[in-house]
Amino acid sequence: MRDIQSLFIKNILNGTRSNLKECGTAFAASNIALCKYWGKRAVALNLPVNSSLSISLGHLGTHTEIRQGNQDRVMLNGSEMAVNEPFVVRTLEFLDGFRPLLGNTYFEVRTQNNIPTAAGLASSASGFAALVMALNNWAGWELDGQRLSMLARLGSGSAARSIFDGFVQWNAGTNPDGSDSFAEPMAQIWPEFRIGILKISEAQKPIGSREGMNRTVATSELYKSWPAQAEADLATLRTAIDTQDFTTLGKTAEHNALSMHATMMAAWPPLIYLQPDTLEQIHTVQRVRADGLEVYLTIDAGPNIKLLFLEKTQATVAAAFPDVEIIQPFG
Ligand code: PMV
Repeated sequence: MRDIQSLFIKNILNGTRSNLKECGTAFAASNIALCKYWGKRAVALNLPVNSSLSISLGHLGTHTEIRQGNQDRVMLNGSEMAVNEPFVVRTLEFLDGFRPLLGNTYFEVRTQNNIPTAAGLASSASGFAALVMALNNWAGWELDGQRLSMLARLGSGSAARSIFDGFVQWNAGTNPDGSDSFAEPMAQIWPEFRIGILKISEAQKPIGSREGMNRTVATSELYKSWPAQAEADLATLRTAIDTQDFTTLGKTAEHNALSMHATMMAAWPPLIYLQPDTLEQIHTVQRVRADGLEVYLTIDAGPNIKLLFLEKTQATVAAAFPDVEIIQPFG
C-alpha cells in the first residue's frame, strides 16, 4: 500500500524541482460534506466509490508549519506528541512517501487546529490539506490545485476537498491509477449561508472512517443503494446551489447524511456513531422545523451535528440551540 502511494507521489511530482527554504507554512479550512464520501473503490490510493460535495468552514481549520529537523517530530496544538500516537503515525506514514524526493530528510511538523481533533469535525481533512500545502510552500513546487488535491487525498479522502474554499466537488473519477480523482471549487458564492456546530462530544471516535467505510462496503446490504443515491443527491445539490434554493439544498443534505448513517448501522458489527444527545438534537431540529424554522442538519462519522440555515433565521436558530457555534463560510 505504501509503495503504491509512493509511486503515485513520484508521478505527481515528476519533473518538479525541490528547492527547500527554511520553513513551509499553510492554512487549510475544514469542510463539511453536503453529499458524503462513504466507501472506497481502491483503498491504497483512497479512491472513492462516489463523488461528493462540500462546503468549507471559513476560519475553522488547520495551520501547519514544516521544516527540516534532526529527527522526526510532530507538535499538535503546541505539545510534542509521542511517536506512537496514532496522529503522529499517520502523519509520518504520509510524509514517508515524500521523504525520498526531499533528500531523505527528517521532518519537524507543527500543527495547530482550531477545531476539535477527530470529533467528526473533519480535522483530518484540513490537516492533510494544510500539510500538503505546507510541503508545496516549503519545497517551492508551485503545484496547481488539482495536483495538491490528489496528494491530500492520499492522507484522507475528504482532504482532497479542503484544498479549496467555498462549495467544492470531489470527482470520484474512474481511472484505476487515481489520476482523475480530485476536487474542484465551484464558483458560486452564497454569503447568507450559515453552518452551526452542535458539539455533542469531543471524545475520539472508537472506529475511524477508514475502517468504518471498509466495514460498511464489505458487510452492509443497504450500501448497495448508496452510490446511485449519492450521485443523484450531488446533482440535486449542484442545481440547488446554482439557483440558491435553500430548501432543496437542506433537505437533500440531511437526507444524504442520514442515509449514510443507515448504511453504517446496517454493517456488521454495526457502526453507530450517533450518541443519545445526537438523537435528541435531531428530534429538536425536526420539531423546530415543523414550527416553521428552516434549519437542516448533517452529521459525519461521529456524534456531532452541523446545522444548515440562512442568515435571516440566525437569531431564531441561536435561541433554539443556545450552545450552537455559528460559522459564516463566506464571511
Ligand atoms: O476523509 P475521511 O477518510 O476521514 O472520510 C470522511 C468521511 C465523512 O466525513 C463521513 C464524509 C465526507 O465526505 O467528509
